[in-house]
Amino acid sequence: MTETFDVKLDEKHYMPDQRFRETAWTPDYASAYREFLADPEGFWEMLARELDWFEPWDRVREWTPPYARWFTNAKLNITRNCLDRHLTDGCRDKPAIVWRGDAGESRTLTYQQLYEDVTRFANGLAALGVGKGDRVCIYMPLVPEQIVAMLACARIGAVHSVVFGGFGAGALRMRINDAGAKAIITADVGYRRGKIIPLKEIVDEALADAPSVETVIVLNRSGSATPPAGRGVDFAKLLEQSAPGCPAEVMDAEDPLFILYTSGSTGAPKGIVHTCGGYMVGTYYTTKHVFDVKDNDIFWCTADPGWITGHSYVVYGPLATGTTVVITEGTPDYPDPGAFWKLVQDLGVSIFYTAPTAIRMFMKHGEEWPQKYNLSSLRVLGSVGEPLNPEAFEWYYQVIGGSRCPIVDTWWQTETGMHMITTMIGDPMKPGFAGKPVPGVVADVVDREGNPVPPGTGGFLVIKEPWPSMMRTVHGNDERYCTYWNTIPGCYTAGDLAVKDENGYIMVLGRADDLIVVAGHNIGTAEVESALVSHEAVAEAAVIGKPDPLKGNAIKAFVTLCTGCSQSDELTAALAKHVREELGPVAVPSEIEYADRLPKTRSGKIMRRVLKARELGVDPGDISTLEE
Ligand code: WTA
Repeated sequence: MTETFDVKLDEKHYMPDQRFRETAWTPDYASAYREFLADPEGFWEMLARELDWFEPWDRVREWTPPYARWFTNAKLNITRNCLDRHLTDGCRDKPAIVWRGDAGESRTLTYQQLYEDVTRFANGLAALGVGKGDRVCIYMPLVPEQIVAMLACARIGAVHSVVFGGFGAGALRMRINDAGAKAIITADVGYRRGKIIPLKEIVDEALADAPSVETVIVLNRSGSATPPAGRGVDFAKLLEQSAPGCPAEVMDAEDPLFILYTSGSTGAPKGIVHTCGGYMVGTYYTTKHVFDVKDNDIFWCTADPGWITGHSYVVYGPLATGTTVVITEGTPDYPDPGAFWKLVQDLGVSIFYTAPTAIRMFMKHGEEWPQKYNLSSLRVLGSVGEPLNPEAFEWYYQVIGGSRCPIVDTWWQTETGMHMITTMIGDPMKPGFAGKPVPGVVADVVDREGNPVPPGTGGFLVIKEPWPSMMRTVHGNDERYCTYWNTIPGCYTAGDLAVKDENGYIMVLGRADDLIVVAGHNIGTAEVESALVSHEAVAEAAVIGKPDPLKGNAIKAFVTLCTGCSQSDELTAALAKHVREELGPVAVPSEIEYADRLPKTRSGKIMRRVLKARELGVDPGDISTLEE
């Protein structure tokens, strides 16, 4: 990349009220960063000491590229930090989880109640033969039981693999089989915008070919599910029959905590593996310092725990800080576009973390919706998942934050586990720029050889030193893990393109590979293509991301048909339905175009970038390898 960009800091930036800085956990970015650079291990060690461990570490970090070990030989259980610790630090009766259902139902669990449910359920899982190291798939709607299930796994050392409830049977089956899950925890149904999602039916379809699964635990969400038969167990009964107070399994810092699948640019999704100790320290630190969590905050991250944002900033990070976590099954515009703002007002939400897609959707509906509600409880706003474009930043800042709340635009990934780049509270915010590496992280923008590029020049976003919550491997495919560290010499390659300004602020431009970020969700072109090709009428498929004002990117598919098949509106609808069933609604192309042939290289690789250039009416660049 040699493109240059106009990136001057002085043009447009916002200065937050300096009172934020006076009380922030990181009051002075520059000195915190200097402290980190002077003694990286000491920096992380000091943070780790704020947490509860069974046994301390021998060494803070061991780095044999591309493998890092953090807090070696330390023993811990993350749930002691998320639960037990708060029974004695004054948070026992504080709400841990405040839940709103799709139809407005509500439930609150205090830290004491959450502790009891988690330890009961953990005892129940153990009684079913689930133990340390076993993989457990969790495929649930956004209900408190989803979090109970995750923490119960962690309590006994089982490795959870949460699959987002919007995925279809094909995607679920692939994830169950890749992880070799011994048990699956699900619900009969979920609700979305008043409609029923038949989760259990999808599970049954996935389980038709998932031999590792011995137990299926089903939450009777509707209240009218038929009692589970065969390998089925009722969630509520299991909870009821089990005693509270399950002792926390003693985990090594490097034991796996969970696997979470993320789309790869080629081939099957990757099972990203995170471990207990480093992940705990990284998510605790960033939750506390980036969002500046204080005792009386009400914390709402709108992500589903099915994604990494939910793992790190709905479940583990916030609970480790002892804050009150708001979760809702509801969608931002149901029953009307004021739904989220009503919740902010009713619950007194002070920290609000969402995705640019949602912000752009709110913008489209207009200021009148947020203006109906009192949003004065808000203190800090966050954004994640894709670039927060300047228009959306301004709107979020002014209309939602009342020109009073700092915005933390956090760049990170499933693989990084925690926030990596943002603007710490109290520092000048520059719309369009995520910001600088958080203290503890060394990030840069470089060329293919790893040389830093000058400000204003585009390049690859890389991380130069290991960090505690980095992924340790790709489940069952360590070679794929190694590619992150050996693509650009000496660096972790994030796969994003970025540009820096002369003050070190980083603007993330988007993916450098074949991933499409649709409404904040990572979709691999390869996955959608293979779903399309698995339809009997389709010969070949190529999928591209097309800029979309609302979703960031929309999926457009080009397909060629098998001989004897012809294009029709019915076929287009059937293909969309097929992708929905295989992968789920997020992966359905918004446009399907029929083609006689697809552009390919001489070696037979489909040249998506040629299709994309044609679609956008731009120069396709080097096409010397094109077939003809
Ligand atoms: C993109 C989500 C710009 C990026 C936490 C990254 C962002 C991918 C931002 C990871 C941001 C995430 N600004 N782009 N603030 N945050 N991304 O694994 O392309 O679902 O590589 O993790 O989302 O997506 P993932």
